[in-house]
Amino acid sequence: MNQDISLPGAGPAVPRPSPQDAVEPAPEAIQNAWVQDWRAQEERALADPQAYWASRAQELEWSQTWDTVLDDSRAPFFRWFTGARTNIVTNAVDRHLLTARKNKLALIWVGEDTEQVRTYSYFSLAREVDTMANILRAMGVEKGDVVTIYLPRIPEVFFAMLACAKIGAIHSVVFAGYSSDALAARIDDSQSRVVITADGSWVNGKVFPLKDLVDEAVRFSPTVRSVIVVRNTGTTVEMDPTRHHWYHEMCQLPIAKGRCATEQVDAEDPLFILYTSGSTGAPKAIMHTHGGYMVGTYATLRDSFDIHDEDRWWCTADPGWITGHSYLVYGPLLNGATVFMYEGSPTYPYPDRWWEMVERYGITSFYTAPTAIRTLMRFGEAWVRRHDLSSLRLLGSVGEPLNPEAWRWFHHVVGQDRCPIIDTWWQTETGMFQITTVPTMPGKPGAAGRPVFGQEAAVVDENGVEVEDGTEGFLVLKHPWPAMLRTIYGQDERYVNTYWSTYPGLYLTGDSAKRDADGWFWIIGRTDDVIKVSGHRLGTAEIESALLTHPDVVEAAAIGLPHAVKGNAVHCAVVLAPGVEPDRHLEDGLRRHIAATLSPIAKPDSFEFPEALPKTRSGKIVRRVLRARALGQDEGDLSTLDDA
Ligand code: WT7
Repeated sequence: MNQDISLPGAGPAVPRPSPQDAVEPAPEAIQNAWVQDWRAQEERALADPQAYWASRAQELEWSQTWDTVLDDSRAPFFRWFTGARTNIVTNAVDRHLLTARKNKLALIWVGEDTEQVRTYSYFSLAREVDTMANILRAMGVEKGDVVTIYLPRIPEVFFAMLACAKIGAIHSVVFAGYSSDALAARIDDSQSRVVITADGSWVNGKVFPLKDLVDEAVRFSPTVRSVIVVRNTGTTVEMDPTRHHWYHEMCQLPIAKGRCATEQVDAEDPLFILYTSGSTGAPKAIMHTHGGYMVGTYATLRDSFDIHDEDRWWCTADPGWITGHSYLVYGPLLNGATVFMYEGSPTYPYPDRWWEMVERYGITSFYTAPTAIRTLMRFGEAWVRRHDLSSLRLLGSVGEPLNPEAWRWFHHVVGQDRCPIIDTWWQTETGMFQITTVPTMPGKPGAAGRPVFGQEAAVVDENGVEVEDGTEGFLVLKHPWPAMLRTIYGQDERYVNTYWSTYPGLYLTGDSAKRDADGWFWIIGRTDDVIKVSGHRLGTAEIESALLTHPDVVEAAAIGLPHAVKGNAVHCAVVLAPGVEPDRHLEDGLRRHIAATLSPIAKPDSFEFPEALPKTRSGKIVRRVLRARALGQDEGDLSTLDDA
């Protein structure tokens, strides 16, 4: 592999693994936990992972059972539950209609204007999904077609994803904070013919013009034939009568009415693609399938967040990320849970909005991201103390390391020392948790936990040899798992090279970590050219190519620098065109340019404007040197640099 993997010298300070730090769960938190004897379950699962996963799959419904649990004959193109037929919607929606859950709330939705509330029982969710599925079918969407979904956090995002799944179409959800360029690139790459969007979305009291951005994105698209527009903000938008359709109008058409049968698909048929940033090149379309993904998200959510019928589950993630797919939409519905979704942000109009929602809706299980915890921590605990959070039972975290200080605040102030904290390490690629805890395990502030049942992880050196406990190295996964990505859509070779070529037989995560003597894993950070900013995954290559389309920029390099709230912040070294002088104005212009061509989440915090970038003789930018310089550290060995 040509990847220049180096361990990050300058990640956030990592606490020394110390087993004494373990926090035992409060007895009342684990009384009825599904997983009591976790050591026994761990042993049983590892003794025969395939038998373990088969037993978990049997908790769900299949219209035809599998011939083989795991087909590894073409590894690393693993196939799970081959020969089986089902549909994730059969298990996420349909089967609940045959039980008392039919009348249970599936979704409670609250708008940024909290007077706007919409609730759906499993029964009415099923009806909504049928309507959307009928409409998609009538538009000619067929099994295997890709539908792009560019929607804010409103109920229609559930309907759209489930409707695609129901008819065997592949959804490609694009985060509604991406620019039109980023959206266009994803539409083109996936060759999608239908886009589902809204007129706008509410962002801190203002309208973000989603439909206008879609118009820009599809103006030159050779594939898109139809755009379905959900009315959300009520803003005026331009509708081209030949290919733009109001969703609420289509719902009135005869074609929208009636039931829509859930297509039984092969376990290995694609369910969705989701774009994520990699080390190099354009974002990768990670592909997941119906069967294995269903089993993996169902089982891991049930074990780690101990889902019971009386729970009210709130995952704050956006459906545009994998967390939204696996643990806002599919995992909770597969478990028959009541899902809460809030449209707005945690700090608007005041930093107690989330706690207000927890109190008002009696949330029991609350899953969020470290950057949000650190942001809310800064506003002080008085905002939390205003609200009665006694309904909370379990807290969770995902996206980047939850540093011990934030862990303790979350545990003490939000969880009132009662609620176990479930830190979950996983990736877009893994589809489901890989390293986490179940509530009966002790929690360690700053550690993600242990590999999920049926999985083993290891920390290795450059040669793939396991390092000693307490030593930092490359984090790898040892066993295939049902919700694993099957490939990068249309790029099988890139799939093999990215994940499976560095250490044959081991899945390369791209993260560095340490394991402690108890077997808990402490995640440190990325080892590749991916930057995690507020939990968002950004590729340095994407930021650099966005900069290079600016007329004043000749060369650019992006790196991540430690940041107290965001985890990492983007820093850019930019070589300017002759005659261009750097100043505040120019910096702001570059920031706006990145926001407009990529996304506001990628806006750099800081810039430097050198005469030239440090490069190897073969022309590769040496980010290590940039990082050391920016942090005022020793630049290390410069002998391989091109001195021109
Ligand atoms: C990368 C994957 C999977 C959900 C959201 C992110 C980092 C994720 C943790 C955690 C430390 C974490 C890793 C990983 N990461 N969860 N609990 N502790 N780091 O998905 O955008 O695909 O990013 O996020 O660096 O490789 P993603």
